[in-house]
Amino acid sequence: MTLPPLPAPRTPGRYRIAVVCLGNICRSPMADVVLAARVADAGLDDVVEVISAGTGDWHAGEPMDRRAAALLTAEGYDASRHRAQQVRAAWLDEYDLVLAMDHDNLDDLRALGEADPARLRLFRDFDPDDQGEVPDPYYGGDAGFRNVLDMVERTSSALTGAVAEVVTSGAR
Ligand code: 4NP
Repeated sequence: MTLPPLPAPRTPGRYRIAVVCLGNICRSPMADVVLAARVADAGLDDVVEVISAGTGDWHAGEPMDRRAAALLTAEGYDASRHRAQQVRAAWLDEYDLVLAMDHDNLDDLRALGEADPARLRLFRDFDPDDQGEVPDPYYGGDAGFRNVLDMVERTSSALTGAVAEVVTSGAR
């Protein structure tokens, strides 16, 4: 399927992406770590910034959920550096993309202020297989985390390819 067109970088030659869930301990940290790894593999880590946050502040300062960290580590990612933080309204004007994990997260982000709908949207709008939410695995079992990782890996690969095109064409 065709991915949505990526909005032009606010600063040519650079790209800034924020991924957002509720607690910033499960889904958005997984997306942050995987997307940042894809970006680094593409040699774009100097020009593409990836961060994550929660709409809530309950877990601020904490490392990610141990189930998320264990799965990421088993799959070869570095989950150790994550510390949870709450999203700030200013990000809606600063980041090229603010990507919500589910519709509740998207509604909460829209309540923070005016946002360009091309820049504030669901993370899985960029899933090449199937669009929708990244379901919250917090109250479930290991299968929920595996499902999140599958979605996040697929979407991060597609998104990195799209960002590579936008960043290199902007730099020309
Ligand atoms: P996340 O998952 O939004 O993917 O980080 C959750 C983490 C914590 C809670 C809910 C969801 N909580 O209720 O504390």
